[in-house]
Amino acid sequence: MNQTINLASQIQEYLPRQLWQAVNTVGKKATELGQKLYLVGGVVRDLFLGRPNFDLDLAVEGDAVQLARELARVSQTKLTIHPHFSTARLDYKDFSLDITTARREVYPRPGALPVIEPGTIIDDLFRRDFSINAMAICLTPEYYGELCDPYKGKDDLERGLIRVLHDQSFKEDATRILRALRYEQRLGFSLEPRTLQLLQHDIPMLDTVSSERIRYDLEMILKEEAPEKILNQAYQLGVLQKLHPSLKGNGWLAQKFEQARQLSKKVPLPPLYFSLLVYSLTETENEQFLLRINPPKKLTQLLRDTLHLKRHLPELTKPALKPSRIYHLLYEYSPTAIQANAIASDTSKIRQRLELFLYKLRYVKPLLDGTDLVRMGIPPGPQLGEILKALRQAKLNGKVRTRTDEEKLVHNCSSR
Ligand code: CTP
Repeated sequence: MNQTINLASQIQEYLPRQLWQAVNTVGKKATELGQKLYLVGGVVRDLFLGRPNFDLDLAVEGDAVQLARELARVSQTKLTIHPHFSTARLDYKDFSLDITTARREVYPRPGALPVIEPGTIIDDLFRRDFSINAMAICLTPEYYGELCDPYKGKDDLERGLIRVLHDQSFKEDATRILRALRYEQRLGFSLEPRTLQLLQHDIPMLDTVSSERIRYDLEMILKEEAPEKILNQAYQLGVLQKLHPSLKGNGWLAQKFEQARQLSKKVPLPPLYFSLLVYSLTETENEQFLLRINPPKKLTQLLRDTLHLKRHLPELTKPALKPSRIYHLLYEYSPTAIQANAIASDTSKIRQRLELFLYKLRYVKPLLDGTDLVRMGIPPGPQLGEILKALRQAKLNGKVRTRTDEEKLVHNCSSR
């Protein structure tokens, strides 16, 4: 006989007070409507692990949309409904709650989105990726705090195991391959032997996954604390090569990711990691990889920029390069592409010059601007643009310092 585990007091300790009150209110409202409410997924896992996670997912045996509508009617919340998936999101002042109708999923073919029909909480947990993510806690007052753990997720948490619920799991959704590696490294867990076997067998199924979903999971990996560990494991298992055969999750990458983390907290890491990940690809290989992950314009541009600059780095090794020349070579590249090259390049001269641009030259601006020049009698037009350029060059090369120096230069240029 399984003993019932009650987590009522742990929930109260774990959740911030407002959030705790909100979920209890939802639980009561669900009961009034004759529905049973559960806290599900990652938050249950993280509650056991004592890791903060306030991204709450609620599942209701009933109708999530009806429940959310009722709640929005009686409280000051913004309601967003996705009728196709029977899900709703309630945005409170400081947090939000996602409510879904507990459901059964049928996959029409590998990689496709599942066909959904309402089901019990047990059905709902069975459609999930790993046992540690397939637990629920009841929030209905009568059973408040009771753990629902039909697939022994709590045991796996204690043993440090990532385990799929059935043999078809990776076939049905191959993004779980990437998710498995992400949880394994994040939590310092191991893949349960049968799960590892299935994962390795189903690596080719990654081809059935759309570029958007692959990119999303890659981005999730790059948001982790030490993505290089996940990429290394993905490389060892041959998963990374499935995204592009030339990608490598090796010691070089680990070292460069570590260097990226040493930079100022202001530098957003995921785009920089992306640039470092493609650094060893040729520009042609990068284009193939871009087709596979189909990123938005900004990321596409960054990855192209990174490799384009890599090709032009030798110009930065020339002796006695004036600051204005360095500026000219680099100003059209995004700072992240330059930063990636500075980290990746093994030539100290190149690194120095890239950093000179990043930390100093790109901020250099003459004291006079276009309006000043017009006031000095220069008519708006191409000549004014040329004079501004000459001012910047002179400033970069230390030829002008004061406003008077700049005014003199303007007079010289305009009288030529
Ligand atoms: N899930 C799944 N298969 C997927 C994606 C998600 O079964 N391919 C389920 C898991 O039960 C997961 C839940 O949906 O717990 C929510 O997904 P997500 O928000 O991606 O994960 P979290 O568990 O919240 O984990 P994380 O801490 O990584 O956000």
